[in-house]
Amino acid sequence: MSLLEARNLEKQFGGLKAISGLSFSVPENIIFSVIGPNGAGKTTLFNMLTSIYKPTSGSIFYKGNNITGMPPHKVAGLGITRTFQNLQVFLNMTALENVKVGCHMHSNSGLISAALRLPSVMKEEHRVRKMAMEVLEFCGLGDIADMPASALPYGILKKLEIARALAAQPDLLLMDEPAAGLNDTETMELCDLIVQICQSGITIILVEHNMSLVMEISHHVLVLNYGKLLAQGSPYEIQHNSKVISAYLGGE
Ligand SMILES: Nc1ncnc2c1ncn2[C@@H]1O[C@H](COP(=O)(O)OP(=O)(O)OP(=O)(O)O)[C@@H](O)[C@H]1O
Ligand SMILES: [Mg+2]
Repeated sequence: MSLLEARNLEKQFGGLKAISGLSFSVPENIIFSVIGPNGAGKTTLFNMLTSIYKPTSGSIFYKGNNITGMPPHKVAGLGITRTFQNLQVFLNMTALENVKVGCHMHSNSGLISAALRLPSVMKEEHRVRKMAMEVLEFCGLGDIADMPASALPYGILKKLEIARALAAQPDLLLMDEPAAGLNDTETMELCDLIVQICQSGITIILVEHNMSLVMEISHHVLVLNYGKLLAQGSPYEIQHNSKVISAYLGGE
């Protein structure tokens, strides 16, 4: 069974069909990339998969359940998390605090017991801190745990955002242009991190313009053009598909 399935998805903004007639399925435990020119509808697709936008029509199935139109926090609670095209980290918090925000998806302390600092809450706080540290270390950020996010360079913040998404213990992680703005070394590190995340059992849907990264690590690539599926297949098939070359990849 596929982990995620989109059936005939459509999203219309006024007269513009940002996504139309889009169907695909994502098997478990792979790196599934979505590529396409600017404005092709990639972020709109992510916004539908995370329920930020309700599809105009069509449906989304996750682990066999129809999640179309479910509130975003419920979708997140089912194990779908994401990072954003425009970096979203809390600059007034430390790196560790940012990741703890992700962990709190699974924290069950109530507000009153938290205010009273009950032993159960202190224990929970200890558990969350430990888990956040583990995630930071997994992402190679253990050393900067107590640094304020505002003092960290952009490349580290991009990783920190991934760490926060991982702290919510997703089964499916959506990444919207994680390599944008990174230098070559940072891109290589990101590449390794994405592969490690997949190897840890998390399925990844990756939106990315960096074609060497996409072709190196993806198991499956889907190409969107003007909101429609242009082609899908292995990186090799996509690189040799004449429709994809003329619409997107160019002559190189
Ligand atoms: N909230 C919105 N209201 C109106 N139009 C929108 C909205 N969001 C996206 N669009 C339009 O939908 C189309 C798809 O946009 P989207 O951001 O999904 O593209 P994208 O593939 O992510 O592009 P990029 O590679 O530049 O990030 C564009 O024409 C965009 O202007
Ligand atoms: Mg986008």
